[in-house]
Amino acid sequence: MKAAVVSSFGTTPRYQDFTLPTPAGNELVVDVLAAGLHPRVLSQANGSHYTSTGELPLVPGIDGVGRDAEGNMRYFILPDTTLGSMAEQTIIDARRSILLPPGTSPVLVAAAMNPAMSSWVALRRRITFTPGQKILILGATGSAGQLAVQVAKLFDASHIIAAGRDTEKLEGLRRLGATDVVALDSDQLAKVAADVDVVIDYLWGTPATAAMTAVVTGRTDRGKPLSWVQIGSITGATAQIPSAALRACRMQIVGSGQGSVDTRDILAELPLIAAAITDGSLSVDAEAVPLTDVEQVWDRALSSERRIVITPRP
Ligand SMILES: NC(=O)c1ccc[n+]([C@@H]2O[C@H](COP(=O)([O-])OP(=O)(O)OC[C@H]3O[C@@H](n4cnc5c(N)ncnc54)[C@H](OP(=O)(O)O)[C@@H]3O)[C@@H](O)[C@H]2O)c1
Repeated sequence: MKAAVVSSFGTTPRYQDFTLPTPAGNELVVDVLAAGLHPRVLSQANGSHYTSTGELPLVPGIDGVGRDAEGNMRYFILPDTTLGSMAEQTIIDARRSILLPPGTSPVLVAAAMNPAMSSWVALRRRITFTPGQKILILGATGSAGQLAVQVAKLFDASHIIAAGRDTEKLEGLRRLGATDVVALDSDQLAKVAADVDVVIDYLWGTPATAAMTAVVTGRTDRGKPLSWVQIGSITGATAQIPSAALRACRMQIVGSGQGSVDTRDILAELPLIAAAITDGSLSVDAEAVPLTDVEQVWDRALSSERRIVITPRP
């Protein structure tokens, strides 16, 4: 079969032949309909992700939508493997997949499921979130951030504060449900976000430190609980946490993702997320690209405004 194959870290995957291994146990072979080119896939493919074992060759792709031998459409999450989803066929663990109803768009689900689940699972499974609470989203202009705005709206947050570096893009988030938009380096951050209950943080690094200082400094009720949920590390794998920030208010810092949330709990949320994508409550701009064009599209994936979705078997 054909696949996108990484033979050396730091080089673009090539469209070439790859031998499909034999499935075992609970494994199924699926024809891959769509696979999202998420930031996590780029770090998997260049060997920089913390789960990388350095093993090559490698077919990138961490999730996707496929069709099994019975004709069922499934969304699947792959384990850490060298056989990813950017191939005509891949091997999935049936227990790490959900059936999708007929009529579901494989491209939209492959584009939106990974970025959408980041905030959805955090709010439903990692912390206790209740309708009416206030949410600040750091890195709100990315795919996951835009979906976090929509998830917060769906979950009836009273204030949805979208923070990022690009003020023009931030303004556009009002139509998705943001009640306030604020630049990361603005003096207004401390004022606008002072009394949030939850921070959904896609950035980490220096911007997270600065935002934490601003939020803690601006707080009017220091006894009010604050959950800072670390989800992405776009601007740094590490961040300095001011000790005073932890003492000066009732803040807890937690991470959310595979590992910190049980896989069964994540899987339980997926049908609901798929339904929200299908009914349009959650939307993302997606660009479908055939597997044959994977080499051309790879280098512009990071800067693309739209989530690129590779379609091996459209
Ligand atoms: N834990 C989980 O469950 C989970 C699930 C999905 C994703 N993630 C992680 O979440 C993060 C975001 O994913 P995504 O899909 O939204 O990525 P994305 O679509 O590529 O968006 C990246 C975001 O980072 C911002 N950004 C980039 N460089 C920046 C800088 N120097 N200063 C400030 N902002 C900067 C971008 O702002 P501009 O719009 O201004 O460029 C954009 O908002 C990634 O780290 C991803 O791996 C985690």
